[in-house]
Amino acid sequence: GIKIAVFISGRGSNLEAILDSINREEIKGEVALVISDRKDAKGLERSKERSIPSVYIGKSNYSDNESRVDKILEVLELKEIDLIVLAGYMSIVDTSIVRKYKNKIINIHPSLIPSFSGKGYYGSFVHKAVLDYGVKITGATVHFVDEDTDTGPVIIQEAVKVFDEDTVDSLSKRVLGIEHEILPKAIKLFAENKLVIEGRIVKRRD
Ligand code: GAR
Repeated sequence: GIKIAVFISGRGSNLEAILDSINREEIKGEVALVISDRKDAKGLERSKERSIPSVYIGKSNYSDNESRVDKILEVLELKEIDLIVLAGYMSIVDTSIVRKYKNKIINIHPSLIPSFSGKGYYGSFVHKAVLDYGVKITGATVHFVDEDTDTGPVIIQEAVKVFDEDTVDSLSKRVLGIEHEILPKAIKLFAENKLVIEGRIVKRRD
């Protein structure tokens, strides 16, 4: 199976969804490494409890950008990582990492890209923007990461209805439920080498 590194910043519920899917033997692979850019990330505690090699690499222990990127590259190499999954990772991945792991980094985003995506659109801000705009459909997107923010080839998208009564809290919960389905699904396809990228179009091979 493939060796996966999961990058997180907070709660880590998408990380849990990946681990559960691996436990159900849907994904042929293992989470060999968790990297958090926040020391106090809840997901970091949970991954440690599950005995997964987990490391904090952030601005307080690697203050300059270059040393931080070098450290990330070092641990990725050490663990012979095949796939990087950004699961609620709130930092921009440096271009040197994106180039080295070209078409080997995937991200989960809580909207239907290209709507409500790009710089400034993350976490609850996405759902606030969706509600303020008044769109009636939102959703979640799994995509490959390229050198811009949220612009890489789309792997899976799924729609979620917006209700009149929705709040940021209720809407983010409904979208999160979909995230937990489509992220493991995309990783499973990647691990089985079933994703073909043609330009910016991702096709499924059987
Ligand atoms: C998820 O909703 C994810 O889509 C979003 O942050 C949340 C993390 O939750 N990611 C982004 O906004 C990235 N731009 P989690 O830590 O429980 O997985």
